[in-house]
Amino acid sequence: MKLVGQLTPPGDKSISHRLGLLSLLAQGRCEVGGFSPSADCASTLAAVAALGGGVERVGERVILSGAAGRLRPGQTIDCGNSGTTMRFLMGLLAGAGGRFVLDGDESLRGRPMERVAEPLRRMGARVECAAGGRPPVIIQGGGLRGGQFDLPVASAQLKSALLLAGLQADGPTTVNEPAASRDHTERLLAQWGAQIRRDGLSCTVWPGLLRLPAQIWTPADASAAAFFCCGAAILPGSRLVAQGVLLNENRLGWLRVLERMGGCVDVRRQGDDPEPWGDIGVEFSPELRAVEVGAAEIAAIIDEAPILALTASQCHGVSVFRQVGELRVKESDRLAAIIGQLGALGADLRAEGDDLIVRGPTPLRLPDAPLKSFGDHRIAMVLRVAGLLAGGWPRIDDEACMAISHPAFNDDLRRLAGMAS
Ligand code: S3P
Repeated sequence: MKLVGQLTPPGDKSISHRLGLLSLLAQGRCEVGGFSPSADCASTLAAVAALGGGVERVGERVILSGAAGRLRPGQTIDCGNSGTTMRFLMGLLAGAGGRFVLDGDESLRGRPMERVAEPLRRMGARVECAAGGRPPVIIQGGGLRGGQFDLPVASAQLKSALLLAGLQADGPTTVNEPAASRDHTERLLAQWGAQIRRDGLSCTVWPGLLRLPAQIWTPADASAAAFFCCGAAILPGSRLVAQGVLLNENRLGWLRVLERMGGCVDVRRQGDDPEPWGDIGVEFSPELRAVEVGAAEIAAIIDEAPILALTASQCHGVSVFRQVGELRVKESDRLAAIIGQLGALGADLRAEGDDLIVRGPTPLRLPDAPLKSFGDHRIAMVLRVAGLLAGGWPRIDDEACMAISHPAFNDDLRRLAGMAS
């Protein structure tokens, strides 16, 4: 099986979340083109509307009317499956007057929120998590003090939560990261009129309101593109172009790793607004070699680790992904899921402490039993690509979860693989 043709992935999920959520602290009205059709971003838009933001969906366009920081308190907000929605809202609501409760589905209720709650408490907010620092989260905000924060993990969600709280504090707030994570929040804050200073891994924001631009568009999702591009690199005969894709370097860690493996990749930058974007061409790459991916690179490949692990299973040699412990606290325990489910297809993967070790190349075969996604979209999607490599379309126990990030994933994959839907 091969992947041949062109694909425009859905609008970027990370940027779409931020457009919606930051509009709560902004004045003005903005027409967004190419907004992500993901279930996660639908959770964000529902939350924004519940809190008093204006949200109008017109096909792929979303019209946002800023709430200028005047949020409706006394509510329970359902964040669905979306960690981004919850963690951003924790920071955002910590600065608003009143009491809010943030809750989510079973997967989200298992994810760590204390890492966000603790620095927000230091800023002066009252934040309570349920047992084990998990959701639901109760926030009684207002009266925040700015400060300096050294983050224990490279997490764009944690960084962003503190920057959004900082916008509503009494003075500057500085966030220092241990390694670079995606920087869409900082870029939007600067574009939307915040006073912000960036210096390497450090970012300082001063209090103030944002101003929405009249129009903005969302480049196609770099993480969604990764599943198809890596799939094309390992499926003999493939030749694929992902069009209009976000080319922010913090989101292209997977492409750099694929290049290091010897992947045949061609990137054509087409524009820079609101962030760099362009086309990514990938061809079947017959001589892929094992690589070592260092701890400092992990934040930039965190969502693509599953598809890179599959790609590594087709490389010659032993690949090592250092310090990928964060994978254990994603929508599922992705480290266990990758090892167990790609292992069920015949790949040779194991964990050594927090490192992931993949030995290749291994031929894959379709298993008799259904594969398990653990309700995690990125696990379901990597199993689909792995299935093509094994020559078929295996049963997966839950693939509805793909809608969390890419509702048309199966249709896009079938079309590019030349399969009837
Ligand atoms: C995201 C940040 C990452 C990523 C998630 C989206 C974002 O999470 O895994 O899918 O949009 O900021 P962490 O910040 O927890 O690493």
